[in-house]
Amino acid sequence: MLTAKRILLGVTGSIACYKAADLASKLRQAGADVDVILTRAALQFITPLTFQSVTGRRAYTDDDLWGQAGHVLHVGLAEAADVLIIAPATANTLAKLAHGVADNLLTVAALAAGGRQPPCPVLVAPALDGGMWANPATQANVETLRGRGITLIGPAEGHLASGLRGLGRMVEPAQLLGHVRLALSRTGPLAGKRVVVTAGGTQEPLDPVRVLTNRSSGRQGYALAQAALDRGAQVTLISAAAALAPPVGARLVQVGTAQEMREAVMAALPEADVLIMAAAVADFRPARTQEHKIKKTGSLPVIELARNPDILAQVAQRKTRGQWKGITVGFAAESQNLLDNAQAKLNAKKLDMIVANDISAPDAGFAVDTNRVTLLFADGRREQLPLMSKAEVAERVMEEVVDWLNTGSTGSTGSTDH
Ligand code: C5P
Repeated sequence: MLTAKRILLGVTGSIACYKAADLASKLRQAGADVDVILTRAALQFITPLTFQSVTGRRAYTDDDLWGQAGHVLHVGLAEAADVLIIAPATANTLAKLAHGVADNLLTVAALAAGGRQPPCPVLVAPALDGGMWANPATQANVETLRGRGITLIGPAEGHLASGLRGLGRMVEPAQLLGHVRLALSRTGPLAGKRVVVTAGGTQEPLDPVRVLTNRSSGRQGYALAQAALDRGAQVTLISAAAALAPPVGARLVQVGTAQEMREAVMAALPEADVLIMAAAVADFRPARTQEHKIKKTGSLPVIELARNPDILAQVAQRKTRGQWKGITVGFAAESQNLLDNAQAKLNAKKLDMIVANDISAPDAGFAVDTNRVTLLFADGRREQLPLMSKAEVAERVMEEVVDWLNTGSTGSTGSTDH
């Protein structure tokens, strides 16, 4: 996503500077070329060498503005940038940006970037202490910036350097990275398309303490949501997984049980162009949920089960009746007869594609970062993919979805083995 993208990172004087180094590193690891500009106040907290070490590129200061060719440096940096992100941004820099003050290399570059045609996306992550965020002057500046299309991210609430608690913390680097991805993706091939992704294992309550669930971590579904966002889609992530941070930009619908997931899918379906059911939906639930915790004394409980709704089967019905015309992608996790089972599900649930997942391999399936999958298509094509990360599997699936939406059929270039 960030390969060969130029990110201009502005760093201003706040204790959150140390997190800006982490952000620069994360951007670099994601493939971006990161140019950093530090203000004089930032130099009190952190050195250019820190940024040069993590970005592998020169980091700039006001000395460069007043040095040789400094008068065009700011224009060059602003012209080259795919995104300008200022993190941390002090109240002072927010005020300068709002009023077009250009008295250091960063604010000069920001002025040039904001005036570009088309304008460079500008993201600002404030970091302030005490009442500085709440101050009407800051709030008025922030409104001005928003009105100009600048994206304000945070500040977050919590512990502040002064020992106070409140709104003022810079948003964490991982989240900021998500915002940069989002800013870069908006004109992608899925712009204007709505993608619904389900993820995680549903939890079926037995009593107030215990649930029936499965080993799904939600990682594959979350990676699919991110891959759809990276292509510009509007993404609804219907999640039964609790332990993952949702990708920035996704509309998160948190659910517990299969029935709740069914409700959420059916509510989102009419608007959706694509439904990707990566969730491990429990096939059975306890027939009754006990109001109070079942005690271990007394006779052993016998748990009667009831069948859960098959969400994809219900979606297939809507397709058959012509009530919904989108693309459906299913997943099949099997420990035996993988491809036969997957093919049967593809047919029964009228899917356009199914991702068959061999959970018997130690490096694939639940709760690991890699997957070994075969894609099966409604037209009979099959494509066996090598061991890859769940993010890479998500990329491949989304490539097929994009082909589909563009041409009406999948345009896979992989080998067919049917
Ligand atoms: O559980 P099963 O192997 O049949 O799952 C195959 C596909 O059907 C998956 O995409 C899963 O998300 C979906 N499914 C569903 N409703 C269920 C069970 C599974 O939509 N009750």
